[in-house]
Amino acid sequence: MSLSRQVQRWIKGIAYHCGFSLRRLRSAKANVSTGGDFAGKVRPLLHKVDPYQGFDWQSLPDDRSGWGSDSTAFGELVAAIKPRRIIEVGTWKGGSALTLAEALEKQGLDAEIICVDTWLGALEMWTDQEDAGRFGSLALKHGYPTLYYQFLANVCRAGQQTRITPFPIPSVTAAQWFSLRDVRADLIYIDGSHEEDDVYQDLVSYWDLVRPGGVLFGDDWSWDGVRLAVERFARENSLPITHRHDKWELKRPA
Ligand SMILES: C[S@@+](CC[C@H](N)C(=O)[O-])C[C@H]1O[C@@H](n2cnc3c(N)ncnc32)[C@H](O)[C@@H]1O
Repeated sequence: MSLSRQVQRWIKGIAYHCGFSLRRLRSAKANVSTGGDFAGKVRPLLHKVDPYQGFDWQSLPDDRSGWGSDSTAFGELVAAIKPRRIIEVGTWKGGSALTLAEALEKQGLDAEIICVDTWLGALEMWTDQEDAGRFGSLALKHGYPTLYYQFLANVCRAGQQTRITPFPIPSVTAAQWFSLRDVRADLIYIDGSHEEDDVYQDLVSYWDLVRPGGVLFGDDWSWDGVRLAVERFARENSLPITHRHDKWELKRPA
């Protein structure tokens, strides 16, 4: 990274801590076409201590259950784009992240996958307490979800600890952090909340983080909230929506 870029990032960090709004700090220069692009690994910026260190993963069952996690779209996109970095929004037990990690391994790519999730569940996981797959999987302990540990265990069991980095905060906050640190990605998978306003907000927040030539894609086209938000965002930005197996895609021009 050049010295001037380093100084710019340093000034941005200080200004943010002095109370400047992120909106004011994100000048036109900071968007993907002209702004910086952090070239290193994100893991050390997020975790001073390895999140997997000393974790007793063998005490948890082998349970990767999720939705749309094994889609062949993941492998095809990894082969086509050859990503250097992937961001996933909505990870649950890690099914889709592990499919992506295995595709990277197959292609011999040393990319990292940053998984953004609160691991607290989306609206549909809290609406039916009899639903073992959704509410039950949150595995509340003292009233608070412990789903995150099932995700960690699945990553360890698959031996993908070096590729997969958890970022356990709300999606929009994570996008602000990525923007502040100039972190961009070649593939961004959106599979968090399925409520229309939330999905739209995720699209707005993550689109600028897609590298030129990269792809923003997502699951659940059959959900009204997802489809309406993607259609609105695509219309407003004159972007064609394409489909690959069960996923929708928005491609950023190179
Ligand atoms: C449908 S699941 C993801 C499924 C996963 N991709 C798979 O392969 O099975 C949605 C996930 O998004 C997370 N989530 C929902 N809203 C979120 C938000 N605003 N910020 C971060 N995570 C969120 C939930 O905690 C949940 O784990």
